[in-house]
Amino acid sequence: MSDGFGRALVAGLARRPRRIPCRYLYDEAGSLLFERITRLDGYYLARAERALLRQASGRIAAMVGPGLRVVEPGAGAMVKTRLLLAALDRPHAYVPIDVAGPMITAAGRALAAEMPELAVTPVVADFTRRLPVPTDSREPVLVFFPGSTIGNLAPPAAVRLLARLRAAAGAGGWVLVGVDPVRDPVRLKAAYDDPEGVTAAFMLNLLVRANRELGATFDPGAFRHRMRWNAEAGRVEHFLISRRRQSVGVAGRRFHFRPGEAIHAEDCHKYPPAAFHGLAARAGLAPATTWLDAQELFSLHLLRQV
Ligand code: AVJ
Repeated sequence: MSDGFGRALVAGLARRPRRIPCRYLYDEAGSLLFERITRLDGYYLARAERALLRQASGRIAAMVGPGLRVVEPGAGAMVKTRLLLAALDRPHAYVPIDVAGPMITAAGRALAAEMPELAVTPVVADFTRRLPVPTDSREPVLVFFPGSTIGNLAPPAAVRLLARLRAAAGAGGWVLVGVDPVRDPVRLKAAYDDPEGVTAAFMLNLLVRANRELGATFDPGAFRHRMRWNAEAGRVEHFLISRRRQSVGVAGRRFHFRPGEAIHAEDCHKYPPAAFHGLAARAGLAPATTWLDAQELFSLHLLRQV
């Protein structure tokens, strides 16, 4: 893991513009900081998605039918999973997939204790690289991909991942994706540039992680977080900005920063329903039903193979 991070960091800092793949934000500390983000007043996504899932889960259960195997890439703490599983008609199996082994093992055990009829079999894997496809599945499969995680990928990569989710669901299966449709700059700023500074701490944790895992010499106080709404690309962009001229050691190399120079750390793409349907179609998926809350703060797309 650290090896992959080291190589990605060195390669990303050598590029112009400098850019680090956002999955490295999510180490243990980063995942805890992200959990805090989901509880911020301005972070409408988590609350809106939970409310929408509560509202839609009965209809989802009726459409997908009984006895499913639910597969969840990036399962994390399984909060939304519980809402879904509780609504489904006697689901047979649950396969959480996550890089955070200890977390999904513990959360999977707790879930299995709550639902004794459910076979819980966690898979420790990086779903952005490899999605273990259950070719032997006798049950119909529902792939659950909530949280607008799909927004982290640029559209071509999002299409490739959706195509893999389609393959994992199989011919008779379902893909349920949670997508943030919001493109209002004021609301996005409140969600992604919080006055509490939790998002900034989440981004700066990347540098703290580099120091701890790779012996890098970042001074996190010498960088600040900047978020920007890129209306043309339909995405929120996050950067770490050098506050001054400085040089930093990473894995035996030195990197020089000018004042104001940026490291691009994350993108969060926003898709109104029609835009997401276009993306899904390119991946061979068609919407069975789309749910949008009254305030249009979140959307759930139940998709099947075309
Ligand atoms: C985990 C990708 C869904 O895009 O809202 C939150 C990540 N970054 N605040 C999002 C994130 C900064 C989050 N996702």
